[in-house]
Amino acid sequence: MNTAYLILLVLIVLIFLFIYYISTRVWFVVDKKNQELKSSSESPNNEKVADDTRRDFLSLSTITIGGIGTAAFIWPFLKSMNPAEDTLALGSTEVDISSIEEGQSITVKWRGKPVFIRRRTKKEIDEANKVNIQSLPDPAQDTDRVQKPEWLILVGVCTHLGCVPLGQKISDKKGEYNGWYCPCHGSHYDTSGRIRKGPAPDNLAVPPYKFLNDNIVKIG
Ligand code: FES
Repeated sequence: MNTAYLILLVLIVLIFLFIYYISTRVWFVVDKKNQELKSSSESPNNEKVADDTRRDFLSLSTITIGGIGTAAFIWPFLKSMNPAEDTLALGSTEVDISSIEEGQSITVKWRGKPVFIRRRTKKEIDEANKVNIQSLPDPAQDTDRVQKPEWLILVGVCTHLGCVPLGQKISDKKGEYNGWYCPCHGSHYDTSGRIRKGPAPDNLAVPPYKFLNDNIVKIG
């Protein structure tokens, strides 16, 4: 249940409770007045007062029922605004990274896109850090692209025209910078997934992710 949904729900309940409180108060007043009317039946204004109180009660009863009806009417719409469980599941994915050895990569799917998870070697980390970022087409520090130096997590979609770059398999061509190579038009990415050569304008994107523990990373 998202926050907006919860706030709307609380508002509806509060409105309902408020209307319920007002209508019960009026009911007590009406009851009291009826008692008084019974005990002083000779008053000339009795009939008018009884009519007024009856009208007040009917108005508030109508409002109360209307409030309940509105809440019942809005409820399905609010429910439909909430993402379905399967949609939420697609929005994030949890990956067990415990079996990935140093120097290995895996590819997982996240929102229909390939995501590269690479456990980098010390050499790859050092290569990524020694680059003068001013020389890069899309300057970015390696430390700003990772949460833990050994784990590099990237959306595996070339930023030129959307091909999936090579470099995940040991036998793949990795390009001139030992990272990933897009064979479609020849873009070379380095060990931080930054574009170094070719027509791609931007670095490979880093998706939102967090480590749930040492073995599980949640992407999305
Ligand atoms: S799509 Fe990758 S270089 Fe063109």
